[in-house]
Amino acid sequence: MRQFIVIFILLIGCLSTTSQKEVKEQLAEEFLRAYSHKNISSRMVEVSFSAKEEEVEIFEGNTQKAWAYNSSIPGPVIRIKLGDTIKIKFKNELPQPTTIHFHGIRVPNAMDGVPGVTQLPIKPGEIFVYEFTPKDPGTYWFHPHIRGHEQLEKGLYGGIIVEDGLTFDKDVVVFLDDWLVNKDGSINENFESLHAAMMNGRWGNVITANGKTSEIINIKSGERLRLRIINAANARIFNLTHNSTQKQEYFAIDGFFTRKPKKFSWYDLAPGNRIDLDIYTNESFVIYDARTRRILVKINVTTSQPLKEKEALPIAQYIPSLKKAAQLEFDREYVYRIERRPGGPVWTINGKSWPEYESYIFEAGKFNIIRLRDQSGRIHPVHFHGLFFKVLRRNGKFVDEGSFRDTVILYPNDVVDVALVPLDKGKWVNHCHIQEHAERGFMTAIEVV
Ligand code: C2O
Ligand code: CU
Repeated sequence: MRQFIVIFILLIGCLSTTSQKEVKEQLAEEFLRAYSHKNISSRMVEVSFSAKEEEVEIFEGNTQKAWAYNSSIPGPVIRIKLGDTIKIKFKNELPQPTTIHFHGIRVPNAMDGVPGVTQLPIKPGEIFVYEFTPKDPGTYWFHPHIRGHEQLEKGLYGGIIVEDGLTFDKDVVVFLDDWLVNKDGSINENFESLHAAMMNGRWGNVITANGKTSEIINIKSGERLRLRIINAANARIFNLTHNSTQKQEYFAIDGFFTRKPKKFSWYDLAPGNRIDLDIYTNESFVIYDARTRRILVKINVTTSQPLKEKEALPIAQYIPSLKKAAQLEFDREYVYRIERRPGGPVWTINGKSWPEYESYIFEAGKFNIIRLRDQSGRIHPVHFHGLFFKVLRRNGKFVDEGSFRDTVILYPNDVVDVALVPLDKGKWVNHCHIQEHAERGFMTAIEVV
Protein backbone atom coordinates (compact mmCIF):
# COMPACT_ATOMS: atom_id res chain seq x y z
CA MET A 1 0.00 0.00 0.00
CA ARG A 2 2.72 2.38 1.04
CA GLN A 3 4.56 1.82 -2.28
CA PHE A 4 1.42 2.68 -4.16
CA ILE A 5 1.10 5.90 -2.30
CA VAL A 6 4.73 6.80 -3.00
CA ILE A 7 4.29 6.05 -6.71
CA PHE A 8 1.09 8.01 -6.75
CA ILE A 9 2.77 11.01 -5.15
CA LEU A 10 5.70 10.80 -7.57
CA LEU A 11 3.27 10.65 -10.47
CA ILE A 12 1.37 13.69 -9.28
CA GLY A 13 4.69 15.48 -8.80
CA CYS A 14 5.73 14.74 -12.41
CA LEU A 15 2.37 15.78 -13.79
CA SER A 16 2.40 19.02 -11.95
CA THR A 17 5.92 19.92 -13.11
CA THR A 18 5.05 19.21 -16.73
CA SER A 19 1.89 21.20 -16.48
CA GLN A 20 3.80 24.01 -14.78
CA LYS A 21 6.14 24.01 -17.76
CA GLU A 22 3.25 24.05 -20.18
CA VAL A 23 1.55 26.84 -18.34
CA LYS A 24 4.76 28.86 -18.49
CA GLU A 25 5.02 28.26 -22.21
CA GLN A 26 1.45 29.43 -22.73
CA LEU A 27 2.08 32.47 -20.59
CA ALA A 28 5.22 33.35 -22.57
CA GLU A 29 3.22 33.10 -25.79
CA GLU A 30 0.48 35.34 -24.45
CA PHE A 31 3.01 37.82 -23.19
CA LEU A 32 4.90 38.02 -26.46
CA ARG A 33 1.73 38.52 -28.45
CA ALA A 34 1.56 41.99 -26.90
CA TYR A 35 4.84 42.91 -28.59
CA SER A 36 3.56 42.74 -32.15
CA HIS A 37 3.29 46.23 -33.56
CA LYS A 38 3.14 47.40 -37.15
CA ASN A 39 5.91 49.63 -38.42
CA ILE A 40 4.70 52.79 -40.12
CA SER A 41 8.00 54.12 -41.43
CA SER A 42 11.59 53.13 -42.15
CA ARG A 43 13.63 56.29 -42.29
CA MET A 44 17.05 56.95 -40.86
CA VAL A 45 16.82 59.94 -38.55
CA GLU A 46 20.09 61.57 -37.57
CA VAL A 47 20.49 64.06 -34.78
CA SER A 48 23.39 65.35 -32.80
CA PHE A 49 23.57 66.91 -29.41
CA SER A 50 25.86 67.69 -26.57
CA ALA A 51 25.76 67.91 -22.80
CA LYS A 52 27.33 70.98 -21.33
CA GLU A 53 27.55 73.07 -18.20
CA GLU A 54 26.05 76.49 -18.84
CA GLU A 55 23.70 79.18 -17.64
CA VAL A 56 20.14 78.05 -18.30
CA GLU A 57 16.79 79.31 -17.13
CA ILE A 58 15.73 76.42 -14.89
CA PHE A 59 12.37 78.07 -14.20
CA GLU A 60 10.81 81.47 -14.89
CA GLY A 61 13.19 84.25 -14.01
CA ASN A 62 15.81 81.94 -12.53
CA THR A 63 18.85 81.49 -14.73
CA GLN A 64 21.49 79.35 -13.09
CA LYS A 65 24.56 77.33 -13.78
CA ALA A 66 23.15 73.94 -14.75
CA TRP A 67 23.86 71.00 -17.05
CA ALA A 68 21.87 70.77 -20.25
CA TYR A 69 21.47 68.82 -23.46
CA ASN A 70 21.65 71.31 -26.34
CA SER A 71 21.46 74.27 -23.96
CA SER A 72 17.90 73.69 -22.80
CA ILE A 73 16.12 72.07 -19.86
CA PRO A 74 14.22 69.92 -20.67
CA GLY A 75 16.56 68.85 -23.43
CA PRO A 76 15.49 67.98 -26.97
CA VAL A 77 12.41 65.91 -27.71
CA ILE A 78 13.14 63.70 -30.68
CA ARG A 79 10.11 62.50 -32.60
CA ILE A 80 10.37 59.50 -34.87
CA LYS A 81 7.88 57.03 -36.27
CA LEU A 82 7.70 53.36 -35.40
CA GLY A 83 10.12 51.58 -37.73
CA ASP A 84 12.53 54.50 -38.03
CA THR A 85 16.15 54.11 -37.03
CA ILE A 86 17.63 56.83 -34.92
CA LYS A 87 21.27 57.82 -34.91
CA ILE A 88 22.45 60.19 -32.22
CA LYS A 89 25.87 61.73 -32.38
CA PHE A 90 26.51 62.75 -28.82
CA LYS A 91 29.34 64.93 -27.54
CA ASN A 92 30.21 65.08 -23.87
CA GLU A 93 31.21 68.64 -22.98
CA LEU A 94 30.67 68.13 -19.26
CA PRO A 95 33.49 68.19 -16.72
CA GLN A 96 32.63 64.53 -15.91
CA PRO A 97 32.26 61.27 -17.80
CA THR A 98 28.69 60.44 -18.79
CA THR A 99 26.55 58.05 -20.86
CA ILE A 100 22.99 58.18 -22.16
CA HIS A 101 20.34 55.64 -21.32
CA PHE A 102 17.14 55.52 -23.38
CA HIS A 103 14.63 54.75 -20.70
CA GLY A 104 12.02 52.17 -21.69
CA ILE A 105 13.18 51.62 -25.25
CA ARG A 106 14.13 48.08 -26.16
CA VAL A 107 17.52 48.79 -27.75
CA PRO A 108 20.39 46.46 -28.65
CA ASN A 109 22.32 45.82 -25.45
CA ALA A 110 25.37 47.83 -26.57
CA MET A 111 23.16 50.94 -26.91
CA ASP A 112 21.76 50.78 -23.38
CA GLY A 113 24.17 53.33 -21.92
CA VAL A 114 25.21 51.56 -18.74
CA PRO A 115 28.87 52.20 -17.92
CA GLY A 116 30.87 49.11 -17.09
CA VAL A 117 28.05 46.88 -18.34
CA THR A 118 27.22 47.87 -21.91
CA GLN A 119 29.77 50.58 -22.73
CA LEU A 120 32.69 52.58 -21.43
CA PRO A 121 32.02 55.96 -19.86
CA ILE A 122 32.14 58.77 -22.43
CA LYS A 123 34.95 61.00 -21.21
CA PRO A 124 34.85 64.80 -21.33
CA GLY A 125 35.46 65.90 -24.92
CA GLU A 126 34.57 62.50 -26.40
CA ILE A 127 31.90 61.63 -28.93
CA PHE A 128 29.75 58.51 -28.86
CA VAL A 129 27.23 57.47 -31.48
CA TYR A 130 24.03 55.74 -30.37
CA GLU A 131 22.01 53.98 -33.04
CA PHE A 132 18.92 51.81 -32.72
CA THR A 133 15.47 51.05 -34.10
CA PRO A 134 12.82 51.17 -31.38
CA LYS A 135 10.55 48.12 -31.44
CA ASP A 136 7.59 49.61 -29.63
CA PRO A 137 5.79 52.91 -30.14
CA GLY A 138 5.46 55.19 -27.15
CA THR A 139 6.61 57.97 -24.88
CA TYR A 140 10.21 57.49 -23.83
CA TRP A 141 12.93 59.63 -22.39
CA PHE A 142 16.68 59.65 -21.96
CA HIS A 143 19.06 60.63 -19.21
CA PRO A 144 22.64 59.97 -18.05
CA HIS A 145 23.53 56.70 -16.36
CA ILE A 146 26.55 57.92 -14.42
CA ARG A 147 26.17 59.90 -11.22
CA GLY A 148 22.48 60.32 -12.00
CA HIS A 149 21.93 61.86 -8.59
CA GLU A 150 23.98 64.83 -9.82
CA GLN A 151 23.68 64.70 -13.63
CA LEU A 152 19.91 64.27 -13.81
CA GLU A 153 19.39 66.72 -11.00
CA LYS A 154 21.39 69.39 -12.80
CA GLY A 155 19.04 69.18 -15.77
CA LEU A 156 20.12 66.39 -18.11
CA TYR A 157 17.06 64.77 -19.63
CA GLY A 158 15.19 64.76 -22.92
CA GLY A 159 12.49 62.84 -24.74
CA ILE A 160 12.10 60.31 -27.52
CA ILE A 161 8.64 59.93 -28.94
CA VAL A 162 8.08 56.92 -31.13
CA GLU A 163 4.89 57.74 -32.99
CA ASP A 164 2.24 55.10 -33.45
CA GLY A 165 0.09 56.71 -36.14
CA LEU A 166 -2.68 57.92 -33.83
CA THR A 167 -3.74 61.46 -34.61
CA PHE A 168 -4.68 64.06 -32.05
CA ASP A 169 -5.31 67.77 -32.55
CA LYS A 170 -2.41 68.43 -30.22
CA ASP A 171 0.37 66.25 -28.88
CA VAL A 172 2.37 67.73 -26.02
CA VAL A 173 5.17 66.32 -23.86
CA VAL A 174 5.34 67.42 -20.23
CA PHE A 175 8.44 66.77 -18.13
CA LEU A 176 7.79 66.97 -14.42
CA ASP A 177 10.75 67.76 -12.23
CA ASP A 178 11.63 69.35 -8.95
CA TRP A 179 14.65 71.44 -7.99
CA LEU A 180 16.35 71.80 -4.65
CA VAL A 181 17.49 75.40 -4.80
CA ASN A 182 19.21 77.70 -2.34
CA LYS A 183 17.77 81.06 -1.29
CA ASP A 184 19.50 82.76 -4.21
CA GLY A 185 17.92 80.31 -6.66
CA SER A 186 21.12 78.37 -7.39
CA ILE A 187 21.04 74.58 -7.43
CA ASN A 188 21.90 73.11 -4.03
CA GLU A 189 25.21 71.30 -4.46
CA ASN A 190 24.78 68.79 -1.63
CA PHE A 191 24.26 65.84 -3.95
CA GLU A 192 25.93 63.37 -1.61
CA SER A 193 23.54 63.91 1.30
CA LEU A 194 23.50 60.70 3.32
CA HIS A 195 20.11 61.64 4.69
CA ALA A 196 18.58 61.76 1.19
CA ALA A 197 20.21 58.43 0.35
CA MET A 198 18.88 56.78 3.51
CA MET A 199 15.38 58.23 3.20
CA ASN A 200 13.31 58.67 0.04
CA GLY A 201 15.97 60.46 -2.02
CA ARG A 202 16.38 64.13 -2.86
CA TRP A 203 13.09 66.00 -3.06
CA GLY A 204 13.22 69.57 -4.31
CA ASN A 205 11.56 72.76 -3.13
CA VAL A 206 10.46 74.01 -6.55
CA ILE A 207 8.25 71.90 -8.79
CA THR A 208 8.36 72.47 -12.53
CA ALA A 209 6.58 71.23 -15.63
CA ASN A 210 8.64 71.84 -18.77
CA GLY A 211 10.82 74.24 -16.85
CA LYS A 212 7.92 76.36 -15.66
CA THR A 213 6.28 76.62 -12.28
CA SER A 214 2.98 77.08 -14.09
CA GLU A 215 2.66 75.41 -17.44
CA ILE A 216 -0.38 76.39 -19.46
CA ILE A 217 -1.62 74.50 -22.50
CA ASN A 218 -4.21 76.26 -24.63
CA ILE A 219 -6.79 74.24 -26.53
CA LYS A 220 -10.11 74.99 -28.15
CA SER A 221 -13.34 73.36 -26.99
CA GLY A 222 -13.41 69.76 -28.07
CA GLU A 223 -9.86 69.70 -29.37
CA ARG A 224 -8.34 66.34 -28.62
CA LEU A 225 -5.10 66.68 -26.65
CA ARG A 226 -2.57 63.95 -26.10
CA LEU A 227 -0.56 64.78 -23.03
CA ARG A 228 2.53 62.69 -22.51
CA ILE A 229 3.66 63.20 -18.92
CA ILE A 230 7.15 62.06 -17.92
CA ASN A 231 8.44 62.09 -14.35
CA ALA A 232 12.07 63.21 -14.67
CA ALA A 233 12.58 64.03 -10.99
CA ASN A 234 15.33 62.33 -9.02
CA ALA A 235 13.03 61.01 -6.35
CA ARG A 236 9.66 62.71 -6.12
CA ILE A 237 6.55 60.70 -6.80
CA PHE A 238 3.80 62.85 -8.29
CA ASN A 239 0.29 61.96 -7.14
CA LEU A 240 -1.43 63.10 -10.29
CA THR A 241 -5.02 64.15 -10.17
CA HIS A 242 -7.24 66.85 -11.71
CA ASN A 243 -10.36 68.90 -11.15
CA SER A 244 -12.16 68.41 -14.45
CA THR A 245 -15.85 67.63 -14.09
CA GLN A 246 -15.66 65.69 -17.34
CA LYS A 247 -14.26 62.22 -17.84
CA GLN A 248 -10.57 62.22 -18.73
CA GLU A 249 -8.72 59.09 -19.73
CA TYR A 250 -5.25 57.60 -20.01
CA PHE A 251 -4.29 55.02 -22.59
CA ALA A 252 -0.58 54.30 -22.18
CA ILE A 253 1.68 53.61 -19.23
CA ASP A 254 5.44 53.77 -19.60
CA GLY A 255 4.91 54.28 -23.30
CA PHE A 256 2.99 51.06 -23.86
CA PHE A 257 -0.72 51.15 -24.74
CA THR A 258 -3.08 49.92 -22.07
CA ARG A 259 -5.58 47.21 -22.98
CA LYS A 260 -8.19 49.91 -23.29
CA PRO A 261 -8.43 53.54 -22.26
CA LYS A 262 -8.92 53.92 -18.53
CA LYS A 263 -10.52 56.63 -16.50
CA PHE A 264 -7.94 59.06 -15.18
CA SER A 265 -8.76 60.20 -11.70
CA TRP A 266 -5.55 59.58 -9.76
CA TYR A 267 -2.19 58.15 -10.73
CA ASP A 268 1.02 57.82 -8.73
CA LEU A 269 3.70 58.68 -11.27
CA ALA A 270 7.12 57.60 -10.00
CA PRO A 271 10.48 58.77 -11.30
CA GLY A 272 10.88 57.10 -14.67
CA ASN A 273 7.15 56.50 -15.23
CA ARG A 274 5.16 58.00 -18.09
CA ILE A 275 1.44 58.34 -18.63
CA ASP A 276 -0.34 59.34 -21.85
CA LEU A 277 -3.55 61.24 -21.25
CA ASP A 278 -6.39 61.75 -23.70
CA ILE A 279 -7.77 65.16 -22.77
CA TYR A 280 -11.20 66.08 -24.11
CA THR A 281 -13.07 68.98 -22.65
CA ASN A 282 -14.81 72.30 -23.14
CA GLU A 283 -13.93 73.64 -19.69
CA SER A 284 -10.57 74.72 -18.35
CA PHE A 285 -9.16 72.61 -15.55
CA VAL A 286 -5.89 71.80 -13.84
CA ILE A 287 -3.81 68.69 -13.35
CA TYR A 288 -2.19 68.90 -9.95
CA ASP A 289 -0.10 67.00 -7.44
CA ALA A 290 -2.43 65.85 -4.68
CA ARG A 291 0.28 65.74 -2.02
CA THR A 292 1.51 69.32 -2.39
CA ARG A 293 -1.62 70.64 -4.13
CA ARG A 294 0.71 72.30 -6.64
CA ILE A 295 -0.76 72.88 -10.06
CA LEU A 296 1.38 71.10 -12.63
CA VAL A 297 -0.43 71.87 -15.87
CA LYS A 298 -3.32 74.15 -16.60
CA ILE A 299 -5.51 73.08 -19.51
CA ASN A 300 -6.88 76.38 -20.72
CA VAL A 301 -9.88 76.16 -23.02
CA THR A 302 -10.01 79.28 -25.16
CA THR A 303 -13.40 78.89 -26.85
CA SER A 304 -16.75 77.77 -25.55
CA GLN A 305 -18.83 75.24 -27.39
CA PRO A 306 -20.91 72.25 -26.38
CA LEU A 307 -18.93 69.03 -26.35
CA LYS A 308 -19.76 66.36 -28.90
CA GLU A 309 -19.66 62.76 -27.91
CA LYS A 310 -16.10 61.55 -27.72
CA GLU A 311 -14.92 59.19 -30.42
CA ALA A 312 -13.28 56.02 -29.19
CA LEU A 313 -9.51 55.85 -29.59
CA PRO A 314 -8.60 53.31 -32.25
CA ILE A 315 -6.36 51.22 -30.05
CA ALA A 316 -6.56 47.49 -29.80
CA GLN A 317 -3.64 46.56 -27.62
CA TYR A 318 -3.51 42.97 -26.54
CA ILE A 319 -2.41 42.83 -22.91
CA PRO A 320 -2.62 39.33 -21.44
CA SER A 321 -4.29 38.93 -18.08
CA LEU A 322 -1.72 36.24 -17.14
CA LYS A 323 -4.42 34.74 -14.91
CA LYS A 324 -2.92 31.31 -15.33
CA ALA A 325 0.17 32.53 -13.54
CA ALA A 326 -1.85 32.58 -10.33
CA GLN A 327 -1.63 28.79 -10.23
CA LEU A 328 2.13 28.74 -10.79
CA GLU A 329 4.46 27.94 -8.04
CA PHE A 330 6.68 30.84 -7.29
CA ASP A 331 10.37 30.42 -8.16
CA ARG A 332 12.07 30.99 -4.86
CA GLU A 333 15.39 31.73 -6.56
CA TYR A 334 14.18 34.90 -8.17
CA VAL A 335 13.81 37.28 -5.30
CA TYR A 336 15.22 40.73 -4.79
CA ARG A 337 15.39 41.24 -1.06
CA ILE A 338 15.84 44.96 -0.58
CA GLU A 339 17.50 46.15 2.59
CA ARG A 340 19.06 49.25 3.98
CA ARG A 341 22.10 49.26 6.15
CA PRO A 342 23.36 52.31 7.89
CA GLY A 343 26.83 53.41 6.87
CA GLY A 344 28.43 51.58 3.95
CA PRO A 345 26.85 51.91 0.53
CA VAL A 346 23.38 51.92 2.21
CA TRP A 347 21.30 49.80 -0.20
CA THR A 348 21.58 46.08 -0.75
CA ILE A 349 19.78 43.58 -2.94
CA ASN A 350 20.16 40.09 -1.54
CA GLY A 351 22.97 41.40 0.62
CA LYS A 352 24.98 42.92 -2.24
CA SER A 353 25.50 46.54 -3.23
CA TRP A 354 26.29 47.61 -6.78
CA PRO A 355 28.90 47.32 -8.29
CA GLU A 356 28.81 44.02 -6.50
CA TYR A 357 25.88 41.95 -7.77
CA GLU A 358 24.76 38.53 -8.83
CA SER A 359 22.75 38.39 -12.02
CA TYR A 360 19.93 35.99 -12.64
CA ILE A 361 20.27 34.26 -15.95
CA PHE A 362 17.13 33.98 -18.07
CA GLU A 363 16.62 32.29 -21.38
CA ALA A 364 15.26 34.60 -24.07
CA GLY A 365 11.57 34.06 -24.70
CA LYS A 366 10.87 32.30 -21.41
CA PHE A 367 8.31 33.35 -18.83
CA ASN A 368 9.68 34.27 -15.43
CA ILE A 369 8.54 35.82 -12.21
CA ILE A 370 10.73 37.97 -10.01
CA ARG A 371 9.65 38.84 -6.51
CA LEU A 372 10.57 42.33 -5.31
CA ARG A 373 10.52 42.38 -1.56
CA ASP A 374 11.11 45.58 0.32
CA GLN A 375 12.48 45.12 3.80
CA SER A 376 13.63 48.70 4.24
CA GLY A 377 10.38 50.54 4.87
CA ARG A 378 11.19 53.09 2.14
CA ILE A 379 9.68 53.79 -1.25
CA HIS A 380 11.34 52.33 -4.33
CA PRO A 381 10.32 52.77 -7.95
CA VAL A 382 12.08 49.74 -9.41
CA HIS A 383 13.01 49.99 -13.08
CA PHE A 384 14.04 47.17 -15.41
CA HIS A 385 16.11 47.88 -18.51
CA GLY A 386 15.56 46.13 -21.81
CA LEU A 387 12.01 44.86 -21.32
CA PHE A 388 8.49 45.56 -20.20
CA PHE A 389 7.01 43.57 -17.36
CA LYS A 390 3.59 43.11 -15.90
CA VAL A 391 2.69 43.31 -12.23
CA LEU A 392 1.30 39.94 -11.22
CA ARG A 393 0.75 40.18 -7.49
CA ARG A 394 0.89 42.92 -4.92
CA ASN A 395 1.31 41.68 -1.36
CA GLY A 396 0.05 38.24 -2.30
CA LYS A 397 -2.98 39.45 -4.26
CA PHE A 398 -3.28 38.80 -7.97
CA VAL A 399 -3.62 42.01 -9.96
CA ASP A 400 -4.34 42.77 -13.60
CA GLU A 401 -3.42 46.37 -14.28
CA GLY A 402 -4.34 46.03 -17.94
CA SER A 403 -0.95 47.44 -18.87
CA PHE A 404 2.75 46.69 -19.05
CA ARG A 405 5.35 48.81 -17.30
CA ASP A 406 9.06 49.40 -17.05
CA THR A 407 8.98 50.93 -13.57
CA VAL A 408 6.86 49.90 -10.58
CA ILE A 409 6.57 51.51 -7.16
CA LEU A 410 7.24 49.47 -4.06
CA TYR A 411 5.64 51.22 -1.13
CA PRO A 412 7.23 50.52 2.26
CA ASN A 413 7.48 46.76 2.92
CA ASP A 414 5.64 45.82 -0.26
CA VAL A 415 6.11 42.46 -1.91
CA VAL A 416 5.47 42.78 -5.64
CA ASP A 417 5.74 39.91 -8.11
CA VAL A 418 6.48 40.92 -11.67
CA ALA A 419 6.13 38.72 -14.74
CA LEU A 420 8.56 39.13 -17.58
CA VAL A 421 9.57 37.51 -20.82
CA PRO A 422 12.91 38.97 -21.86
CA LEU A 423 13.66 38.75 -25.55
CA ASP A 424 16.78 40.75 -26.14
CA LYS A 425 20.07 39.14 -25.25
CA GLY A 426 22.65 40.74 -23.04
CA LYS A 427 23.09 42.07 -19.58
CA TRP A 428 20.32 44.42 -18.47
CA VAL A 429 20.45 46.31 -15.22
CA ASN A 430 17.53 46.95 -12.94
CA HIS A 431 17.58 49.46 -10.17
CA CYS A 432 15.69 51.89 -8.03
CA HIS A 433 14.91 55.02 -10.03
CA ILE A 434 15.41 57.18 -6.97
CA GLN A 435 18.81 58.37 -8.10
CA GLU A 436 20.20 58.63 -4.58
CA HIS A 437 19.29 54.99 -3.95
CA ALA A 438 20.76 53.75 -7.22
CA GLU A 439 23.95 55.69 -6.54
CA ARG A 440 24.34 53.98 -3.17
CA GLY A 441 24.11 50.41 -4.32
CA PHE A 442 20.50 49.79 -5.36
CA MET A 443 21.19 48.15 -8.68
CA THR A 444 21.57 44.64 -10.02
CA ALA A 445 21.23 42.92 -13.40
CA ILE A 446 19.70 40.07 -15.28
CA GLU A 447 21.46 38.30 -18.08
CA VAL A 448 19.43 37.16 -21.04
CA VAL A 449 20.97 34.31 -23.02
CU1 C2O B 1 15.70 55.70 -16.36
CU2 C2O B 1 18.51 52.85 -15.53
O1 C2O B 1 17.13 54.29 -15.90
CU1 CU C 1 14.86 53.09 -3.82
